[in-house]
Amino acid sequence: MKILITGAGGQIGTDLLPILVGRGDDVAVFDLAPRPDGCPPEVEWVRGDITYAEELNTLVARFRPERLMHLAAILSAAGESIPHRAYRVNMDGTRNVLEAARLFGVEQVFYTSTIAVFGPGLEAPVGDDVPLQPTTMYGITKVAGELLGEYYQTNFGIDFRGVRFPGLINAGIPGGGTSDYALFMYVEGVRSGAYESFCSPESRIPFMYMPDAVRAMLELMEAPKANLGRCIYNIAAMDPTAQAIADAVKARLPDVQLTFKSDPARQAILDSWPDALDDTNARNDWGWAHQYDLETMSDDLMPQVRALIGMDGGEPAVHA
Ligand code: SER
Repeated sequence: MKILITGAGGQIGTDLLPILVGRGDDVAVFDLAPRPDGCPPEVEWVRGDITYAEELNTLVARFRPERLMHLAAILSAAGESIPHRAYRVNMDGTRNVLEAARLFGVEQVFYTSTIAVFGPGLEAPVGDDVPLQPTTMYGITKVAGELLGEYYQTNFGIDFRGVRFPGLINAGIPGGGTSDYALFMYVEGVRSGAYESFCSPESRIPFMYMPDAVRAMLELMEAPKANLGRCIYNIAAMDPTAQAIADAVKARLPDVQLTFKSDPARQAILDSWPDALDDTNARNDWGWAHQYDLETMSDDLMPQVRALIGMDGGEPAVHA
């Protein structure tokens, strides 16, 4: 399968690329960032700006992907500091991806949506079909992306599908998200023995371990369209408080110092998101089932974080 991925230099792409290459897909990447160390040699890496349709179209016209996975986006915390840029990257970028799919006959566009499409005041667990009233630029652009994709499916026959990811955790350094405190507890805990989370210990949002997240993408991508009652699905795995994550890290790193100092802006973003998601539709329509909870994730993740820190001299690259 020929697959073009936008923004694959970020947190998801780092884990997704080797898996796609490993199963024999022909993969090209379109990303502003340079090719990272460790990117499988089989992947064609093209640098470009998603907000310029011509740059994307040139690659799509030449590579002729059957699927387009759209990961490029500016996340919630970064989006609040550069809202105009977030608007351009997330809105124009998504429109450019859908237009490229329409112009060059790409069969399927896979969209990475988010818990940030939800706004405050919803009773957990939050289902798929509640009013979407986000309060961040990131959330607003992601709601628009969901709707635009459905428009392209209805009007131009593009097979549009995607998931609303919880906060994602893997052995890497994310960039610009508000859920990043969870990952930093592991990475900074190993790297420097201490981390001060920018939220209160009671903060609770949905999280998912990256192997589950990547598997969700692959399984939904392959699911028969006839089984799918909708385009965009909530998916869920765990919803620990920040304190519970700290306890899981401390159980594996007894000397670590994990403290909390709530930053009002980032706390407000976290508090606007649901505590937990209802993913019944994903489970019924395409058999979604998570494998990792907080404990099994922590057992699997900790050795990988140690390897990551040891591997590159203690300064892991920041994914934008
Ligand atoms: N992880 C994202 C963020 O924090 C949420 O989708 O912005």
